[in-house]
Amino acid sequence: MAQYVKSVLIPREEIDKMVTRLADQITEDYKGKEIVMVGVLKGSFIFLSDLVRKIDLPMILDFMSVSSYYGGTKSSGVVKIVKDMDIDIEGRHVIIVEDIVDSGLTLQHLKEMLLTRNPASLRVCAAFDKPDRRKADIAAEYTGMKIPDEFIIGYGLDYDGKHRNLPDVCILAIEGGNE
Ligand code: IMP
Ligand code: MG
Repeated sequence: MAQYVKSVLIPREEIDKMVTRLADQITEDYKGKEIVMVGVLKGSFIFLSDLVRKIDLPMILDFMSVSSYYGGTKSSGVVKIVKDMDIDIEGRHVIIVEDIVDSGLTLQHLKEMLLTRNPASLRVCAAFDKPDRRKADIAAEYTGMKIPDEFIIGYGLDYDGKHRNLPDVCILAIEGGNE
């Protein structure tokens, strides 16, 4: 195993089953509707590409890029849109696709921001969830897997911009990796 990997937390076969379960649920819940799936870059790119190919609905795909600024130790954050989505979501059924919900602050602010654009509905689908670290009172409507308070890499998730290409979700092997 590479020296930056402590251990494999979720093997690719398990991830695949998780994605199928989420896709089936979304396909059922939005039957007869057209959806807009918005991937939050960069972490969601692999999850999104797996997920959309398993969803049997008409859809428009778009992307956003955001960065979060947290003021000191305060549990309030501001989300800045680095790249906005291209389409107008007014009156549309929107699903935000995230890699992981950690403190939940990014998601909370992103949701508030997108709700001002008057979508017909707005839900969140997150591959992973670290409920132990939550600061904002928020949960994704669709969650792949709950994970312990460890810093994970792979399947799109990075440490310092690296390791997104690992096919399994792994626990990072460096001291201080949990922030
Ligand atoms: P939060 O929910 O606002 O705290 O931030 C969530 C974002 O932090 C995610 O979209 C990831 O980019 C990043 N993040 C949180 N936990 C991890 C992790 O374990 N590995 C890699 N990125 C993480
Ligand atoms: Mg992210």
